[in-house]
Amino acid sequence: ATTLGAAAAQSGRYFGTAVAAGRMGDSTYIGILNREFDMVTAENEMKMDATEPSQGRFSYGNADRIVNHARNQGKRIRGHALAWHSQQPGWMQNMSGTALRNAMLNHITQVASYYRGKIYAWDVVNEAFADGNSGGRRDSNLQRTGNDWIEAAFRAARAADPGAKLCYNDYNTDDWSHAKTQGVYRMVQDFKARGVPIDCVGLQSHFNSQSPVPSNYQTTLQNFANLGVDVQITELDIEGSGSGQASNYDRVTRACLAVARCTGITVWGIRDTDSWRANGTPLLFDGGGNKKAAYTSVLNAL
Ligand code: XIL
Repeated sequence: ATTLGAAAAQSGRYFGTAVAAGRMGDSTYIGILNREFDMVTAENEMKMDATEPSQGRFSYGNADRIVNHARNQGKRIRGHALAWHSQQPGWMQNMSGTALRNAMLNHITQVASYYRGKIYAWDVVNEAFADGNSGGRRDSNLQRTGNDWIEAAFRAARAADPGAKLCYNDYNTDDWSHAKTQGVYRMVQDFKARGVPIDCVGLQSHFNSQSPVPSNYQTTLQNFANLGVDVQITELDIEGSGSGQASNYDRVTRACLAVARCTGITVWGIRDTDSWRANGTPLLFDGGGNKKAAYTSVLNAL
């Protein structure tokens, strides 16, 4: 195969990228998107602040630009994200208690219903666990509505779009020995035991020298899969350059391929210059749209 999407498809997987609506007029960008990727995540356009800028008034223009382009090109879509402590609209940031709980549930119901049938998988809840050694939840306005907010979110999403896979997504959950990884694992185990609807776990996998690809990464993917969920690498980027970066990308790709229920990989942008961490040159294409060594190592590993 000569593209990332076609190479991933050889094993029944997908290869995706984050897309920014504001870059869709760039012909180099669109050319690489159309050629290489078969799954699309809106980088910001489906977040709560974008889709419900004022309470009860929903706004889908930029999200639809991405969704329609992807669908016209025969690509699937990962919905990102229905409930998150970050990138909330201003009106929601200062809400609390029952009013906030109901606003969150209404947001999920409205957005997931609007896109019903068009989304492969939703990141229903993003980044709800704390960093550090507690293994517990992150403090947030949503968490303060009660510890059951995550399962309530998943139930609302299932009711609104029964055909979409429903995922929990987080970062720093790549190292199996990390308390945060264990905390998410126990939540998913509990959800499966109690019949809370969850189908997948997303590992964002933003790597750099502070947070390198762990040696037990494949073990983490496999252990989540063993709970009876799919796993996906949802926001992959690895800071670095040259053969070091390429070998890290190779390891991540091979780890996914070694786990039957690791169903796909998404990188968090197309060219280094499109990245939220552009200074770290963490992606597969350089600023000119040329394939990097990291690209070749991924293509060969798939
Ligand atoms: C980032 C986007 O890439 C930036 O453009 C934006 O300014 C902030 O959010 N975890 C996530 C993503 O789940 O939504 C974040 O995306 C990166 C970290």
